[in-house]
Amino acid sequence: MKLTEMNRQWWKEGVVYQIYPRSFQDSNGDGIGDLQGIIQRLDYIASLGVDIVWLNPVYKSPNNDNGYDISDYRDIMDEFGSMSDFEELLAGFHERGIKVVMDLVVNHSSSEHEWFKQARSSRDNPYRDYYHWWPAEKGTPPERWSFFDEEGSAWAYDEQTDAYYLHYFDKTQPDLNWENPKLRAEIFDMMHFWFKKGIDGFRMDVITFISKHDDYPVFHGVHGDKMIDVYAQGPRLHQFLQEMNREVLQHYDIMTVAEGPGTNLNNIHDLVDEDRQELNMNYHFEHVELGVDPRKIVNQDFQNLVKYKQIMSAWATTFDEKGWGTQWHTNHDFPRQVTWFGDDSPEYRVQSSKLLSTFLLTMRGTPYYYMGDEIGMTNAKFDSIDDYDDLMTINWYNLTKAEGGDAEALLESHKLSGRDNARTPIQWDNTANAGFTTGKPWLKVTSNYPEINVAAQQNDPDSPLNYFRKLTRLRKEHLTLVYGAYELLLPDDKHIYAYTRKLDDNVILVLLNYSSERQEVVLNDALISGEVLINNYAALESTACGYQLQPWQAVVLQIK
Ligand code: GLC
Ligand code: CA
Repeated sequence: MKLTEMNRQWWKEGVVYQIYPRSFQDSNGDGIGDLQGIIQRLDYIASLGVDIVWLNPVYKSPNNDNGYDISDYRDIMDEFGSMSDFEELLAGFHERGIKVVMDLVVNHSSSEHEWFKQARSSRDNPYRDYYHWWPAEKGTPPERWSFFDEEGSAWAYDEQTDAYYLHYFDKTQPDLNWENPKLRAEIFDMMHFWFKKGIDGFRMDVITFISKHDDYPVFHGVHGDKMIDVYAQGPRLHQFLQEMNREVLQHYDIMTVAEGPGTNLNNIHDLVDEDRQELNMNYHFEHVELGVDPRKIVNQDFQNLVKYKQIMSAWATTFDEKGWGTQWHTNHDFPRQVTWFGDDSPEYRVQSSKLLSTFLLTMRGTPYYYMGDEIGMTNAKFDSIDDYDDLMTINWYNLTKAEGGDAEALLESHKLSGRDNARTPIQWDNTANAGFTTGKPWLKVTSNYPEINVAAQQNDPDSPLNYFRKLTRLRKEHLTLVYGAYELLLPDDKHIYAYTRKLDDNVILVLLNYSSERQEVVLNDALISGEVLINNYAALESTACGYQLQPWQAVVLQIK
């Protein structure tokens, strides 16, 4: 690949840092992270060398799904602060050269939103068509599966008007009706409101689901979670996104990223190719869904490196010519990277978390890096269902129990796969509650905080934290790591992930040992002599035809 042929964009060259505000920093002792708390930590965030911050939802919300149930799109959640706190935060980021991306949650609203309160009040209310209804006199509605419902159904019966409403997620998250032009106009107007405030983009929550099939047909032979793929193929998805682009997005220098359940290598180009005029990037789930069933019961495949390499390679190269991709391991819906993809034992936690960060920052595609991973935070691994706050784990636990299934096995698996694992408070120091709050934290702090925390790592040159800072610098210094062609080496090796990045005449080699044993890497002659750019060990052992890597060793080499 040639740099002159690349369509250079700030959102391709930047590193995104995701902040889950509820768990970042509490400033007033109520146990809940807030905007003033993030403001207190602005210099820390800037010190990481990240370019873009994605904030999970901060809008008004009854918080049944932690902000993904919005009751007012133009105001800030009381627990997080006020609009003037938000403006102060935005200005603080911008002063430090950091862009801010907000969450856009418009597949559904909260049932507490004024629109829904109106809509459910009578069948002829002007807001009725802002949502999806099935009148009860037509009988039971065709099967629709819900992610969170305690009974698994996405239709909830509402007595007041004797009709069912649609909710792909929780009952308190009714789906918005994008067929209604008035609803679309309201949403576009709200997006202008935030762009005019100066935000730099949106991460679009389950945006692939906004178009529903006309008249809610029966999906023959498609049941339960298999519906995810059908949900993502609504007939007017692309029409709606092109309209959004025309009406809103193209008027600003901003970035967009789809959360894309149901996206795959066959349909992704329709969503992100430049000539489609829809969105800039998407994130897929194939790598994090490897080794889990629909209720996140874990099997051995979750650390199958050969399959993982196939998935990551296919997604990295599909954007060689057109479109652009993302790289991520963890977010507020998935476990901590070091527990899932690495080895969080005391022996290998530090090295494996550095290795995983090396991967994300040397791959083709914009890295989305989750808060706390820079210090190698691990899963919380709660023992009891009472420790959980997440409605997903709680509802599935109850559903499994009601079905007479093995609820304890679900609980055991969720220590590895549950969403609350990555939602625990950031571990700032070794004082009470890890310095997150002076009150009682809304979710338990992970018990290893006296050992794993920011303060302990700040001045240690070998800490995961300072290693991450080196990685962000490295990516900035080498455009090859951003735009260079990706090529996988040794595809069948069960322990080594090796690849090159090539731009113009420059070649960078990345060697990662995904195992707790030493491994030998045999390379062809052209790749033998290289200068180390970064290494998570003090030394690199050469052999006649390659290298001998230490457990979880990660090295990036400039090939000469
Ligand atoms: C997305 C969010 C998740 C939320 C769901 C419903 O998957 O990331 O946290 O529960 O959408 O809005
Ligand atoms: Ca607070």
